[in-house]
Amino acid sequence: MKTVTQSMITLGMAMSVMAQNLSYGADNFYRSNNVTMQPISFPTQYQTTVAANLFYLKDQNNSAAPAIVVGHPMGAVKEQSANLYATKLAEQGFITVSIDIPFWGSSEGEPRNTVLPELYAEAFSAAVDYLGTQNLTSVDRERIGGLGICGSGSFVISAAKLDPRLRAIATASMYDMGTLARQGLQNSTSVDQLKETIAGAAQQRWTEIDGGEPQYTSGTLNHLTANATPVEREFYDYYRTERGEFTPVGSTPELTTHPTLSSFTKFVNFYPFSGIETISPRPLLFISGDQAHSREFSEDAYSRAAEPKELLWVPGAGHVDLYDRTELIPFQRLAQFFQTNLS
Ligand SMILES: *[C@@H]1O[C@H](CO)[C@@H](O)[C@H](O)[C@H]1NC(C)=O
Ligand SMILES: *[C@@H]1O[C@H](CO)[C@@H](O)[C@H](O)[C@H]1NC(C)=O
Ligand SMILES: *[C@@H]1O[C@H](CO)[C@@H](O)[C@H](O)[C@H]1NC(C)=O
Ligand SMILES: *[C@@H]1O[C@H](CO)[C@@H](O)[C@H](O)[C@H]1NC(C)=O
Ligand SMILES: *[C@@H]1O[C@H](CO)[C@@H](O)[C@H](O)[C@H]1NC(C)=O
Repeated sequence: MKTVTQSMITLGMAMSVMAQNLSYGADNFYRSNNVTMQPISFPTQYQTTVAANLFYLKDQNNSAAPAIVVGHPMGAVKEQSANLYATKLAEQGFITVSIDIPFWGSSEGEPRNTVLPELYAEAFSAAVDYLGTQNLTSVDRERIGGLGICGSGSFVISAAKLDPRLRAIATASMYDMGTLARQGLQNSTSVDQLKETIAGAAQQRWTEIDGGEPQYTSGTLNHLTANATPVEREFYDYYRTERGEFTPVGSTPELTTHPTLSSFTKFVNFYPFSGIETISPRPLLFISGDQAHSREFSEDAYSRAAEPKELLWVPGAGHVDLYDRTELIPFQRLAQFFQTNLS
């Protein structure tokens, strides 16, 4: 038994080196010679500080450019995917801001890794506040858009329902974190299983109020096991290899991507697509790989949204491919979308 465990651990370590797949121009940490990246921060409506990066073309300090707020995948930080999208769009002349959602990365919020979808959405509006009050974009309050990757796709839609200052909204590889928490992928979670999860989170509250340690849930496997599912492997290849691994100051590799167990059920009450039609006539663009395990969420949002809306399939692409594979992410289409709709 010991031998089996030992060889599985060895296998896991070997795979953590080999699993990395950099095909199709994977370049999560891309930096552009043409773009300045400047750390910034600003308060939410609840006076918590959001950490962010501001991106703009080096040779362009004018106030004529439209701006885009970019949110990272759930469990990630702005250094994962969001900076890449923000940089690529800044190269096209946009002023962009990549944010750490509250409780994650360098943004404030205790305990760390807490789930609070309302505050995640609020961070997008806080970024709009920031952009609209800088001289950089002072004449451009009418030209600010939002872009959410994975979980942030659902947070930016949640924000846009309450914040018409977000004039155009795009998502990439969207995860509806509410449906995911309630039903699992492709409705794989039964009501009984959901009740069990809710009971477990409630029990963990007793543990914590009695002085026990926090516990963490979901996120990405810390070590690949032989029976890991294809979806688990897909995330592992990005979050646990040099391809996309990033540990923010104050965290540890073991804790990255994992929300707290006692707060994860906050997603059960999160219905980002309820009322999505009220975003109209502001335009929505949903981008998903046609092979993505998450494609149901973009399809669902698209079918519920009112015009103008577009569902853009990236042929052959999976979910995580649109985090960093620069040859698959349709940056030109994104730039066109924002150029047209923030003009
Ligand atoms: C690497 O990723 C690409 C894009 O998802 C995929 O087509 C290819 O099969 C992967 N290669 C390996 C060896 O897994
Ligand atoms: C733009 O120029 C103004 C005035 O020179 C300066 O104060 C400001 O910091 C510049 N902004 C950026 C983002 O470079
Ligand atoms: C950087 O700027 C140069 C000069 O304007 C331009 O030729 C080049 O295409 C730009 N590169 C990128 C990646 O935008
Ligand atoms: C914008 O510029 C004005 C005048 O140049 C200055 O007084 C103000 O502090 C600036 N605001 C910001 C947010 O930089
Ligand atoms: C998901 O499954 C439940 C039963 O477990 C069913 O009531 C519900 O309609 C299903 N939803 C979808 C979207 O298929």
